[in-house]
Amino acid sequence: FTPQCLAGHKLLITAGPTFEAIDPVRGITNHSSGKMGFAIARAAREAGAEVTLVAGPVHLPTPRGVHRINVKSAQNMLEAVMQRAQAATLFIATAAVADWRPAAAAEQKIKKDGSGQMPVLHFVENPDILATVAQSQHALVGDLFCVGFAAESHDLLQHATAKRARKGVPLLVGNIGPATFGQDDNALLLVDAHGHRELPRASKRELAQQLVADIAARLAQRSD
Ligand code: C5P
Repeated sequence: FTPQCLAGHKLLITAGPTFEAIDPVRGITNHSSGKMGFAIARAAREAGAEVTLVAGPVHLPTPRGVHRINVKSAQNMLEAVMQRAQAATLFIATAAVADWRPAAAAEQKIKKDGSGQMPVLHFVENPDILATVAQSQHALVGDLFCVGFAAESHDLLQHATAKRARKGVPLLVGNIGPATFGQDDNALLLVDAHGHRELPRASKRELAQQLVADIAARLAQRSD
């Protein structure tokens, strides 16, 4: 990690969970804390990048000098990202986006009607934000470097390799288990077209700095 290794770059990064409304008082979300994404946003800012952080609902302070946009649902997140992707040179997707959302959120609170009948929820699939950005013209012509994340319970290397191809990104970063939600440390597996390497267990702050240094080296190589 060298100071200013990302100078001149514009990072757009997603972090945290999304919240998919069922009705005005209920919704579906997950346990993503947003810590890894926020740590990367901070490290990238400290490395000289201009950073825009699109954050789902999390209780974390905004890193100094980072432009933060708060969103709720996956659709909100996609919209916020697509509005800003064209101006970015680097996109990192750390958000734990809900795979599905209720097909239609009820306008009023769903009430127990005393009949013992349970409400039935119908789901539709959410857009894949990372895949959408990675397939945009800006990324396809090489002006936007895209990085994805993967949280898997088993066979991480296999899943991360497949996910890298499926999402169409040059770099896929796997969270090495056990589940790291909310914890302050982690270990990462970096998978690219040539193979993989591990960043051993460390604080999310240290890992974020190592990842930023790794990505900066890839970007520098590309522009050589
Ligand atoms: O497919 P899966 O959710 O495992 O992929 C994880 C990666 O894709 C993460 O980088 C995550 O931020 C991104 N993703 C996304 N939009 C989705 C689902 C995942 O950007 N709807």
